[in-house]
Amino acid sequence: MRILITGGAGFIGCNFIRCMLERYPDDEIVVLDKLTYAGRLENLQDVMGKITFVKGDICNREDVEKVGDCDVIFNFAAETHVDRSTIDAGVFVKTDVLGTYNLLEYARRYDIEKYIQISTDEVYGSIEKGSFKEEDILDPSSPYSASKAGADLLVRAYYKTYGLPVLITRSSNNFGPCQYPEKLIPVLILNALHDKPLPIYGEGKNIRDWIYVMDNCEAIDFVFQKGKIGEVYNIGAGNERMNIEIANIILKELNKPMSLIRFVEDRPGHDFRYSLNCEKIKKLGWAPRYKFEDALKETIKWHIENEWWWKPLLEVNK
Ligand SMILES: NC(=O)c1ccc[n+]([C@@H]2O[C@H](COP(=O)([O-])OP(=O)(O)OC[C@H]3O[C@@H](n4cnc5c(N)ncnc54)[C@H](O)[C@@H]3O)[C@@H](O)[C@H]2O)c1
Repeated sequence: MRILITGGAGFIGCNFIRCMLERYPDDEIVVLDKLTYAGRLENLQDVMGKITFVKGDICNREDVEKVGDCDVIFNFAAETHVDRSTIDAGVFVKTDVLGTYNLLEYARRYDIEKYIQISTDEVYGSIEKGSFKEEDILDPSSPYSASKAGADLLVRAYYKTYGLPVLITRSSNNFGPCQYPEKLIPVLILNALHDKPLPIYGEGKNIRDWIYVMDNCEAIDFVFQKGKIGEVYNIGAGNERMNIEIANIILKELNKPMSLIRFVEDRPGHDFRYSLNCEKIKKLGWAPRYKFEDALKETIKWHIENEWWWKPLLEVNK
């Protein structure tokens, strides 16, 4: 099987590639990635000999054509940082919506066997009580989540209109190795390691449902293998934590003072709580394998042991 993974040089994509190489060593993996600020060949250096890498933009038809024929597409490529989307929404609409459209057209041209869209819990918006099910309405709050929601609707429309064999996964907040240090957990870990203030929005009470990246990667493969065509699957591990709790755990683990915490002005349109009902995928037989606290400790350890990976990024973002 020839598998196209777009956005494979990013955080979840590169972990997913490792997962797939281990599980299906006989399949061919082709990665298409534009190498934006978030995409790094460093993320793939240990697997480069085992994959085909194509540098290209999912929004550009010629770039996508460079891939040639393939059997399956996993679309991870996206602009992903909410804060950036509130400053410049255009590139989010372009990559996340237009790029997805371009891939769907490619999928039609090549008559692919399955198209898997990697989406997010953020498309549902915030929820005070209870948890979102797959059939709940989409009510995104940021240009990022609105662009992802637009992509989800297009993917569904291609299933209904053209019978394209699609699946959509919507996971909660990921953490783990190779996450760009603009997202909450790597920012907190690296600032704590450098005795710098840990910025926390508002009063730190916003709640996210955390999942270790390898659990998400295994769940995406599970949906690919067992999911029903045309369906959406929520993926979460039931680890709801306030942002301030995450900061506290990291400081404690690194033996740093709580006085490093700095509350900063809240982000506009900041969703208060994300929560997913994951009964649908659980009923199919998937369950997370990693315990939140252990996976967070592993992630802290990974940062301590892999200064080569993050040091250049701190220089760039000074
Ligand atoms: N990180 C999370 O917590 C999370 C949670 C749920 C869903 N998701 C979704 O998972 C996917 C991957 O997220 P991530 O955290 O790994 O993102 P990331 O920002 O780390 O990586 C995105 C990758 O896409 C590539 N890319 C961006 N624009 C491109 C374009 N036009 N053409 C080709 N490649 C392009 C980048 O170079 C990078 O390699 C995204 O679709 C995101 O919406 C992420």
